[in-house]
Amino acid sequence: MTMKLRNQNVLIFGGGSGIGKAIAIRFIEAGAKVMITGRTEEKLKSVAEEICSPNLFYKVFNITDIENHNTIFSECEHILGGLNAFVNAAALGSGSLGRGYEPWDITEAEWDKMTDTNFKAAFFLMRNEIEYMRSRGIRGNILNLASNAACMDIIGSYGASKEAIIKWTRALGKRYGHEGIIINGIAPGATFTPMISRYAKSIDQPYPRHAIERFIRPDEIAELAFYLMSDYGEIVCGHTVVADGGDNNATL
Ligand SMILES: NC(=O)c1ccc[n+]([C@@H]2O[C@H](COP(=O)([O-])OP(=O)(O)OC[C@H]3O[C@@H](n4cnc5c(N)ncnc54)[C@H](OP(=O)(O)O)[C@@H]3O)[C@@H](O)[C@H]2O)c1
Repeated sequence: MTMKLRNQNVLIFGGGSGIGKAIAIRFIEAGAKVMITGRTEEKLKSVAEEICSPNLFYKVFNITDIENHNTIFSECEHILGGLNAFVNAAALGSGSLGRGYEPWDITEAEWDKMTDTNFKAAFFLMRNEIEYMRSRGIRGNILNLASNAACMDIIGSYGASKEAIIKWTRALGKRYGHEGIIINGIAPGATFTPMISRYAKSIDQPYPRHAIERFIRPDEIAELAFYLMSDYGEIVCGHTVVADGGDNNATL
């Protein structure tokens, strides 16, 4: 038996680059209809040109626009002819603040900026996706991108927000699996995407912090995403899979 996606109409938040983009490529290959979203039209347009598939669509959307989550769901449903799977990859990395992880490094404005996206919007997005599916009786899928930063002794808002995502994935996954809504997560280690371009200059650069001594490729995370959102993936329900190449700094 060949593994196939459990649901074929997929909305990816943060699909204009990195892991979200790699998941879009993998899911299009698997026959899905996919809409990618993000804040920057040029990035989305360039992914659409690169993938060049009649099954790929894009729309500019900022996940902090919480009151319009249902609007983007409806638009996506209309364009794809249905909506039954969500990938939540949109987030700000700690590098976006240009700071380290020390508590005295961060200002209140920076704290708000990161927590508005990675914590508040991430929670309401997941909550609204569940509500959207439950109100229509859809046996859908949600995949959340956490981070192995959740498993490290670091003190910023990034790691804390990703730990919250693991908690919500577990609590909501166990609650709504009974209704056929499968919620899982992936906690990647350092993956070669624009998010870590501060220190990852080449995919061939050695990365000794990982036991495998290299960065993870976005397509490797996309393959795991494919499994978790496949018809085989529902046996993992409410869990976050750590895919960090054996990161020495992580405690899980
Ligand atoms: N790369 C890693 O090493 C790593 C490790 C662990 C976890 N992760 C997680 O994996 C996920 C994907 O990250 P990535 O590495 O692929 O980084 P990335 O290339 O920077 O992708 C993140 C995407 O999110 C979008 N985004 C950011 N804020 C947004 C907002 N408010 N509304 C809508 N879209 C927004 C960005 O596009 P715009 O700027 O155009 O909006 C960007 O395309 C994130 O959740 C990240 O925390 C990454």
